[in-house]
Amino acid sequence: MTTRTIVVVSGGLSVPSSSRLLADRLAAATQRSLAEREDDAVVETVELREHAHAITDHLLTGFATGDLRGVLDAVRGADGVILVTPVFSASYSGLFKSFLDVLEPGSLQAKPVLIGATGGTARHSLALEYAVRPLMAYARASVAPTAVYAASSDWADGDAQSGLAARIELAGSELADLVVGAPPVVVTDPFDEVTPFERLLSGDA
Ligand SMILES: Cc1cc2nc3c(=O)[nH]c(=O)nc-3n(C[C@H](O)[C@H](O)[C@H](O)COP(=O)(O)O)c2cc1C
Repeated sequence: MTTRTIVVVSGGLSVPSSSRLLADRLAAATQRSLAEREDDAVVETVELREHAHAITDHLLTGFATGDLRGVLDAVRGADGVILVTPVFSASYSGLFKSFLDVLEPGSLQAKPVLIGATGGTARHSLALEYAVRPLMAYARASVAPTAVYAASSDWADGDAQSGLAARIELAGSELADLVVGAPPVVVTDPFDEVTPFERLLSGDA
């Protein structure tokens, strides 16, 4: 049995948040699917609203402060990542995009990722395909084929009735397949490659 680390990022701003609800459901489905493959999963959930100030500071200064450093490291070291954004103005939210902007380059490269979104109207479900999936292509993430969109009506009609529950299960099993098939994550510390000062002084760099 292998223990996999799944980092779940929710960009929801409301309390309670439907994005967080969807994120939790996707995480639980992924955990169940990993268990079927005899793997354990440790799930770490991040609410971006708690890091909104630090994300803005990072954009302004270029440095991660407070708990944000740990969040960025967790995403980089995860075996799989679940990303959920609320749809704002027919696209991902600004906070969600800002978070992706402060991830170190390469953080999502070849990383198994599951994308989800919530919105007030089902008419904006394709925001995942025309907005979020291209961002993941830029990050060179390994994205699960099923992206899960939950409109307010999906929750109101009952998730089994609306098909949301089935989409969540399918997406969770796709992420589990990607995680199980991915090579182990190796995180290198850029400071390991720094030439020691003595060697620089000796001209032996
Ligand atoms: C500024 C703003 C813009 C929004 N724009 C859209 C939109 O274009 N399409 C849509 O379906 N819902 C839109 N919504 C509704 C949210 O996407 C929806 O309520 C979402 O589930 C909120 O997520 P949360 O509960 O996790 O905060 C918007 C909400 C806000 C506050």
